Amino acid sequence: MNLDLESKKVRQLGKNEQIPYDLLLLADEAMEAINKYIYDSDIYILEIENKILAVYVLQLLKKDEIEIKNIAVDKDYQGQGIGKFLLRDATNKAKEQGFKTMLIGTSNASFKQLYIYQKSGFEIYDIKENFYINNYPKPIYENGLLLKHMIMLRKTIA
Ligand code: ACO
Repeated sequence: MNLDLESKKVRQLGKNEQIPYDLLLLADEAMEAINKYIYDSDIYILEIENKILAVYVLQLLKKDEIEIKNIAVDKDYQGQGIGKFLLRDATNKAKEQGFKTMLIGTSNASFKQLYIYQKSGFEIYDIKENFYINNYPKPIYENGLLLKHMIMLRKTIA
């Protein structure tokens, strides 16, 4: 299926619209973890024919710094360039709003995500040690590895 992404508009989800938890949970396993940031963040969605295919969440950190707290693409649409498209879109929106730095974090075991983020211009600058052990109710495994640390990446967007 040719999605012709460049013709698609990503829009902010309205405050009264339903939060797409099914997608958010693909990126972040625990509802409790999502609810820690979702209410003071902006949610952006990509939809086709009224179906939400993908989402990303931006949280303002300080005056000129913003973080992508969650990014997820419907399983049926992964691997078709939507993730990279959303990272570009998020960067453009943040730049338009005057932010200078964009952050994103992922786990020590999330190899695909680490690849995509670095391919999109983010660089590793910090590690939040034992983040997944301390903040999630039960152990999470990905690629056969226990999630322990959050790897933080950043990109200068100004
Ligand atoms: N294995 C290896 N590489 C892959 C795979 C795969 N399964 N799928 C895609 N890639 C590569 C692509 O080839 C492409 O690389 P290229 O530019 O060299 O060709 C690159 O990764 C980007 O691929 P996209 O198609 O843009 O990625 P996608 O649309 O699948 O979106 C995402 C990536 C958001 C990680 C998606 O797969 C997803 O929703 N995964 C589940 C949720 C998740 O893990 N979210 C991120 C958690 S971290 C956070 O939210 C801050």
